[in-house]
Amino acid sequence: MFRETDGESKLFSYPTEEDPCILVRQNSGDLVAYSQVCTHLSCAVVHKEKENVLFCPCHDGYFSVDQGRPFAGPPTRSLPRIKLEQQGNEVFAVGVDIS
Ligand code: FES
Repeated sequence: MFRETDGESKLFSYPTEEDPCILVRQNSGDLVAYSQVCTHLSCAVVHKEKENVLFCPCHDGYFSVDQGRPFAGPPTRSLPRIKLEQQGNEVFAVGVDIS
């Protein structure tokens, strides 16, 4: 699902084609993934690479990359986290954590 040449973030769908998600490489090199659906009013969040945040352009919502927690703007709930599993050189989505 994610390869070294993919850059700092990548969009994918999980668990169905109608569930957009975003995978981000943290500064540490670790990968994290979240639902791309903003917990405010469901716009798509994007990765702002320079600031290393997840940003929702609809109402200027900001989420941390490391936890998916909202820290600015109207969202109050964290982005659902996608569980990842490394298999060889590839990373796969294996579950959704909505806690
Ligand atoms: S829909 Fe994301 S901040 Fe409103």
